Amino acid sequence: MRAGIIGLGSYTPEKVLTNRDLEKMVETSDEWIRERTGISFRRIADECMATSDLAAKAALEAIEMAGIGPDELDLIIGATVTPDMMFPSTACIVQHKIKASRAAAFDLSAGCTGFIYALTVAAQFVASGMYRNVLVFGAEILSKIVDWQDRNTCVLFGDGAGAAVVSVVESGGILESVLGADGGGKDLLFIPAGGSKEPASIETVKERKHFIKMNGNEVFKFAVKIMEESTRKVLEKANLTPQEVDLVVPHQANIRIIEAATKRLNISKEKVMVNIDRYGNMSAASIPVALYEAFKARKIKKGDKVVLVGFGAGLTWGANLIEWSLSNA
Ligand code: ACO
Repeated sequence: MRAGIIGLGSYTPEKVLTNRDLEKMVETSDEWIRERTGISFRRIADECMATSDLAAKAALEAIEMAGIGPDELDLIIGATVTPDMMFPSTACIVQHKIKASRAAAFDLSAGCTGFIYALTVAAQFVASGMYRNVLVFGAEILSKIVDWQDRNTCVLFGDGAGAAVVSVVESGGILESVLGADGGGKDLLFIPAGGSKEPASIETVKERKHFIKMNGNEVFKFAVKIMEESTRKVLEKANLTPQEVDLVVPHQANIRIIEAATKRLNISKEKVMVNIDRYGNMSAASIPVALYEAFKARKIKKGDKVVLVGFGAGLTWGANLIEWSLSNA
């Protein structure tokens, strides 16, 4: 059976944090942020919101576009590095919020590659015939785990959620996927405390160990290389060349990473979806929100070859090649 995307949804909070706002918080400038990252502003969730609130809104829109009811979902897979709590999974909380009474639910952890991992897993469930309708979401409230005193990281991230319903399609669908990981890079991007290795204590809070730590330069180099490699690999599996791709939807971490990787692939700018200027890096939410916006802006039409490609904490990476099977009404 062929698995494909039959519905998309997105939700980003209303509150906007501009680079000018950040100038008042840390020693930085609008010019530095725009030139070095491509970000102009990002969305920030209200204090009272949890990741499941954002995910549920995106999920309901995806279900509506798919033309199914929540009770027709068989499984929900959540991708997030900012779960509502350590357990239960955010997917379970979303399952209850959207009243998907028949659905099993679990989260997976793959950093910014989370949506690609989740989409790949969902496709296997559908292709095997075990489930028909699988909801996948990538949702993050990174504003609650960034250190607002650290200019190296706080300018990069934003909040949001994207969702997709994966189901049986008659033609096209998710043609090929590649996934990878290298735990040797675990210290390049991580939150040191709050887990079983170093549980929360007064010391860990004082030492600011519950916030994102990142080696930006190393992640940058890795990202350019792995985005190129993953795209090539997923296309090779389908005997396609980069020039035959209609649209690339890359993880939105830094415009310079996107430009360097797609230049190496000789893919022109018009074929690359970019929305980092308005959202920053939303980790697992970046790719589904960008995919949603590309579809809504009619940058993708039925039959198009679309590549989703990303990298993230773990380290992890992956790509999906999709032959688009959804018509834009
Ligand atoms: N404002 C002003 N200056 C800054 C800022 C800032 N916000 N941040 C850093 N600087 C300074 C540095 O301190 C440094 O100053 P120095 O030369 O006096 O030491 C200078 O700017 C240059 O710093 P670099 O780190 O070399 O800057 P670079 O051009 O590499 O950009 C960045 C840094 C944006 C972090 C880049 O390395 C990057 O995007 N890395 C990848 C990040 C990424 O992709 N993360 C993915 C997360 S995936 C996930 O799973 C969450």
